[in-house]
Amino acid sequence: TSGLITLDVGFKNTGSTTSNVTFLDGEKGILRHRGYSIEDLAEKSSFLEVAYLLIYGELPDAQTFENWSSRIMKHSLVHEDIRKIFDGFPSTAHPMGVLSSLVTSLTAFHPESIDPNRDSAAIDLTIVRLLAKLPTLAAWSFKNSQGLPLEYPNAKNDYVSNFMQMMFKNKHMDYDVDPVIMDAMNKLLILHADHEQNCSAATVRVVGSSLSSLYVAVSAGINALWGSLHGGANQAVIEMLETIQADGGNIDKFIAKAKDKNDPFRLMGFGHRVYKNFDPRSRIIKKAADDILDRLGVNDPLLDIAKKLEDIALTDPYFVEKKLYPNVDFYSGIIYKALGFPTEMFTVLFALGRLPGWIAQWKESREMVQPISRPRQVYTGETHRAYPEDRTVA
Ligand code: SDX
Repeated sequence: TSGLITLDVGFKNTGSTTSNVTFLDGEKGILRHRGYSIEDLAEKSSFLEVAYLLIYGELPDAQTFENWSSRIMKHSLVHEDIRKIFDGFPSTAHPMGVLSSLVTSLTAFHPESIDPNRDSAAIDLTIVRLLAKLPTLAAWSFKNSQGLPLEYPNAKNDYVSNFMQMMFKNKHMDYDVDPVIMDAMNKLLILHADHEQNCSAATVRVVGSSLSSLYVAVSAGINALWGSLHGGANQAVIEMLETIQADGGNIDKFIAKAKDKNDPFRLMGFGHRVYKNFDPRSRIIKKAADDILDRLGVNDPLLDIAKKLEDIALTDPYFVEKKLYPNVDFYSGIIYKALGFPTEMFTVLFALGRLPGWIAQWKESREMVQPISRPRQVYTGETHRAYPEDRTVA
């Protein structure tokens, strides 16, 4: 009971929230968005269609989707004054920090709309702007950190290939849009699109509950996702594999460290607060990892270490008893590395995928007029004490 708090982002003091967006069953490994299974969506849908489904609750008809996606592409350019903000960041700035600052700066250029029940058209425009500009801001954060010239968006591209062009195209090298890679990227973004009341989505709901704008709430979500126990885990996975590789591939040493209660080391990419059997996304993403590495002919020694770790974790009684299975972050880092992304961009990619979920949950929370979040606590401090009469202030 020490310091116990309940996160009240829903009805007064129930300690939980209600939502129609995503359903998770941690025991059975079920993940559904507005009733559609993640397996179906990953296999048959596109990231922007899943984004529409999450935000508006239904799969769009062809004309609606065409209008919506072309509207998004038209808004993918970012105001020149925001581009100038980049110049103020040192190349050492982590792209996640740059991204959260820039998303907050959108409020300076676009009027804040906060009530979907009153000004739905303004909210829809805010949603379009955010979905449109985050990939540009993400790619520009990367190029800025590399001291490379920015690649501007092209509204004629589709959403995912536009991002990949901005990331990897430059004046010396074109970027050929490989359909297998685009399919893998769509799948990866879909697998990250929403995940019930995870740390960053809960943060977006908490910040939105004070009637801060969607931009500001999403900026807070980006910062929550950055942590290594949450979205930052995909970067931490690769860094862990590189550490094991540098240590001569001595996996047993790191397995022993993960088991040692006195050692703070944890196997990054393993375990989950909700899934206590398997993360359904991991099964899908593991196959995507194999397909992509085969397609690219990548023979990554880190993948060999990863597969040995996975085999041990799935059989070692310690991990089986603690139900520590590979989660979505375990495999995503390996794919991102194979696609040429630098590790500091991995969590940014998670943010790109999670954006529709944050938007959907913010919009739902505002539509349901959920009250301001005000967690309570169990006080475990001192009882009342009188200030000493004879004390002179130090
Ligand atoms: C994401 O919430 C979401 O939905 C998140 C997410 C999403 O889509 O938004 O799914 C994305 O954040 C996935 C998780 C990415 N994080 C990591 O991979 C970091 C490594 N994993 C952990 O630190 C941990 O597993 C958590 C944070 C993910 C979950 O922590 P829990 O469920 O609170 O587990 P716990 O900390 O209570 O640990 C239970 C036991 C402990 O041992 P005991 O104290 O009982 O002896 O399991 C051990 C822990 O020490 N343990 C691990 C471990 N994770 C838990 N031991 C070694 N390695 C690990 N990874």
